[in-house]
Amino acid sequence: MNSDSLKCGREILTAATRMVSFSGAGLSAESGVATFRDAKSGGLWTKHDPMRLASPEGFADDPNLVMDWYAARRRSVAEAEPNSAHQALASQPDMIHITQNVDDLLHRAGVRVEQVIQLHGTIARDHCHARCGFEEAIDLANPPTLRDCPNCGQPLRPGVVWFGESLPAESWQRAEDACAECDALLVIGTSAEVYPAAGLIGLAKSGGARIIIVNTQPSGASHLADVELIGKAGEIVPVLFS
Ligand code: APR
Repeated sequence: MNSDSLKCGREILTAATRMVSFSGAGLSAESGVATFRDAKSGGLWTKHDPMRLASPEGFADDPNLVMDWYAARRRSVAEAEPNSAHQALASQPDMIHITQNVDDLLHRAGVRVEQVIQLHGTIARDHCHARCGFEEAIDLANPPTLRDCPNCGQPLRPGVVWFGESLPAESWQRAEDACAECDALLVIGTSAEVYPAAGLIGLAKSGGARIIIVNTQPSGASHLADVELIGKAGEIVPVLFS
């Protein structure tokens, strides 16, 4: 990795007064949580059909298969530990962290709940598939199987945003506001291929923010980067804040 680029990235973050991070599965990869499209590390979508496992249609078609798949992912998250990139982000008490990730590793690294915006929901909770309002935290180490909502009798499902579902409106608004107002956006471990989330990077750029990208390969946002650092988040992010 180019030391001049790293120096430039550190200078941008040192000068910034309204820093925001925008992360994807690559942030949690070194914790052992699988990415989606990263074929080199056996991304989830290289082995599974996302429409079959992460969509309302897939859940309707085979709810037990979907819940079993999430149970395996939940156990994987329970066994994972925050890595040095999560910890470096947690060292920034005023930073907002927008993430596409549904794991709880930023929270476990010490980032305060109000600093984290989970655009695609959380794997640590189930909610009623009929959206009656019921939701509950679940034990990631002992994930539940398919069961009915105690409130309305419809099935409970993971509290994540599936393909074809809309993002939580309040989270989306907070994320848009944060990106429109920030003066530095640190983009970590995302292919930047899934919209509307990936559009936040262009929103920050058009608002005048400097864009720093940390990724193991060029991404759909590379053209927006002021600084692009190709490498592992666990190695680069701590240096950016050191
Ligand atoms: N450090 C930095 N980057 C990494 C690392 C690492 N250790 N490991 C992998 N990466 C990079 C990969 O090169 C890839 O570009 O992280 C990126 C992960 O991209 P995806 O697997 O597409 O994951 P993500 O961008 O989070 O996907 C967005 O798509 O399937 C939906 O809802 C799902 O939230 C997800 C969304």
